[in-house]
Amino acid sequence: MTNTSQEDEVRRAVPHTRRRFLTVSGAAMALALGTNLASGNTASADSKKLRSDPFTLGVASGDPLPTAVVLWTRLAPEIFDPLGGMPDKNYKVEWQVATDERFRNVVRAGSATAHPEYRHSVHVDARGLRPGREYFYRFRAGSYLSPTGRTKTAPESRDRLSKLRFGIASCQAYPDGYYTAYQHLVEEDLDVLLFLGDYIYENAVNTVGGDRFDTSAQVPDIFQAAPVTLDQYRLFYSLYKADPDLQAGHAALPWILTWDDHEVVDNYAGGVKGTVPVEDFLVQRANAYRAYWEHQPLRLEQLPSGPDAQLYRRFDFGDLMQVSVLDTRQYRNAQPRTITGEAQMSWLLDGLSESEARWNVIANQVMLAEQRTTLTNPPGLNVDAWDGFPEDRQRLFDGIVEREVEGVCVVTGDTHTNYANDLKLNFDDMNSRTVGVEFVGTSISSGRDGFDTSPQLELQLQANPHSKFENGQRGYVTFDVNRDEIRADYRVLPYVTRRGAPVETRTSFVSERAEPGLKAV
Ligand SMILES: [Fe+2]
Repeated sequence: MTNTSQEDEVRRAVPHTRRRFLTVSGAAMALALGTNLASGNTASADSKKLRSDPFTLGVASGDPLPTAVVLWTRLAPEIFDPLGGMPDKNYKVEWQVATDERFRNVVRAGSATAHPEYRHSVHVDARGLRPGREYFYRFRAGSYLSPTGRTKTAPESRDRLSKLRFGIASCQAYPDGYYTAYQHLVEEDLDVLLFLGDYIYENAVNTVGGDRFDTSAQVPDIFQAAPVTLDQYRLFYSLYKADPDLQAGHAALPWILTWDDHEVVDNYAGGVKGTVPVEDFLVQRANAYRAYWEHQPLRLEQLPSGPDAQLYRRFDFGDLMQVSVLDTRQYRNAQPRTITGEAQMSWLLDGLSESEARWNVIANQVMLAEQRTTLTNPPGLNVDAWDGFPEDRQRLFDGIVEREVEGVCVVTGDTHTNYANDLKLNFDDMNSRTVGVEFVGTSISSGRDGFDTSPQLELQLQANPHSKFENGQRGYVTFDVNRDEIRADYRVLPYVTRRGAPVETRTSFVSERAEPGLKAV
């Protein structure tokens, strides 16, 4: 298909697609459609000359729209080589989208250029698809065929939708354990997965992969140092993405991702990390953001420009659910103290008030509800979470009340602990209004095997009457959304430092749209 006919198709699709997604300029649109990134005068090489399988990091899809989805892969025959084992040349990669797993009915196909400047990553914005449909996709480079991925477009924005099923996952420190959770997650029949941050950790990984203690892993010494340069960050993605369970998770369904701190470095805030000079830290942040984009199914709109990237964005799932994806790291600032930055807070509140969806899901990184960690007065708080930014939290809650926003459901990562929280307009007054609910998901692996409860979590349940559940096991959360009710199932695994853990539902809650508040099932 030529670019011209693709552009015409997108223009036809524009009136049917809501707001911000297709408001890119003509030039950016042409780039997106060609799936070709700006590049130097790199020579092209014949993909037929590739001598070993370049699809070692799997495939992924993400950021589903009603008629489009991003397809990702990267050519890297040697995962622990800084260049991925690829020559410094452009390579042609063909792609196909079909309605069936055997590719008998191919509905879209094309080719993209894999550039060495982007470590031969490929981001195809496959457009002209039908809303709410399952598709299969694959890539080909020379004689090598990638694994097949399954994905799903979002339902038509204006359509009445009766139900939807999604999941949340976060925090997958490689040396803390296996990604067994994804073996179970792929069986859940979810429409989309929201990944809420800490996809990689900057933590060193030893030869046996830390607590995985896999003597066959032979992780090279380069992983003993925390990443700072672009190539170091890329290598960490190679190590993580080589994991077969993580690859299976990506290949099974579309992901919508956001980052937290560890994709750069622990607990950074905007341009600040400890005493590192801001100019130096922003170079490191630029490297980390660039490597993140290269390795995730993200559109060109999310491609970083130096240390800046537009990661907060919004998705519609029919008239049932709108998802506002936050970035609570990049715009943090001490003066004035904010976790979202002014522009993102306005964007969030405006989006919530304009939303016509039954449910307004906020994909968030660090805990929004207050969480007292002691019984003292004043209480201990985690100032890296929204508890360090109470003015922003109050502005959000007041905005929800003033604008009469209904169906507010916040989903959160970060703490390697499951929580279920009522969001109280005033956390000091349990009789104050509940403006929504927050489901905090535990980690996939971070924190190693975990525990059901602990004296600290029991203390916190006592100190935080708006928290109905606190649990330290590994796993993920699934959600069943219908017109009137959202249900959360906390799926937990008893261990991750060994392979083969089973999964079980530890507890479940529902919240009604008309009367928000957690009810045990
Ligand atoms: Fe984490």
